[in-house]
Amino acid sequence: MHLPSRSDEVYDAIRSLRVVRAFRPDPIPREVLDEILEAGRWTGSSKNRQGWAFVVVDDAEGRERLASAGSFSGPIRASAVSVALVRTGEGNDFDIGRVAQNIMLAAASRGVASCPVTLHHSDRARQVTGIPADAECRYAIALGYADEEPERAQRTRRRQQGVSGRKPLGDIVHRGAWSQ
Ligand SMILES: Cc1cc2nc3c(=O)[nH]c(=O)nc-3n(C[C@H](O)[C@H](O)[C@H](O)COP(=O)(O)O)c2cc1C
Repeated sequence: MHLPSRSDEVYDAIRSLRVVRAFRPDPIPREVLDEILEAGRWTGSSKNRQGWAFVVVDDAEGRERLASAGSFSGPIRASAVSVALVRTGEGNDFDIGRVAQNIMLAAASRGVASCPVTLHHSDRARQVTGIPADAECRYAIALGYADEEPERAQRTRRRQQGVSGRKPLGDIVHRGAWSQ
């Protein structure tokens, strides 16, 4: 059987993507940020509705305000830029998840690290982003250049606490139907 050619680059990018919560203060150049947002724009969506919008927050005061909408939002404070993912009236959560992953993978391809952050306090998220009444903003992506040393220390701690890595495939794959 003839198999189509493989792209290890894409596969390896997916396989190696991890969140980063410690960022250096270096700004992300505008053209790099635009490439990252462009990848988000190209996400496929249900009926091609493209029910999303991005609120880009790159100043410290704005990031602090956005962070106040989440309960574990340290990465937003530490980021160079955070992008609030807005689900517009015609959008849905599945599509927003795809946008988030595309943004994170595109960022990684440009050497920019990222962390999704939940905005638990929806009224506060609405207030700080200024979104219209029929829109919703539950997640943001914190972006920046990784601060390797503290990041490595945090990752080692998480591994020691057993909150790292992924479940084995055998635990999550059921063939044909759910099996015990
Ligand atoms: C929908 C979603 C919401 C998340 N919210 C937060 C958050 O509020 N704060 C945070 O620090 N990390 C958050 N994370 C990051 C997860 O904790 C992280 O993806 C998970 O621990 C796996 O990390 P790893 O990819 O580095 O292994 C979120 C991730 C997802 C997918």
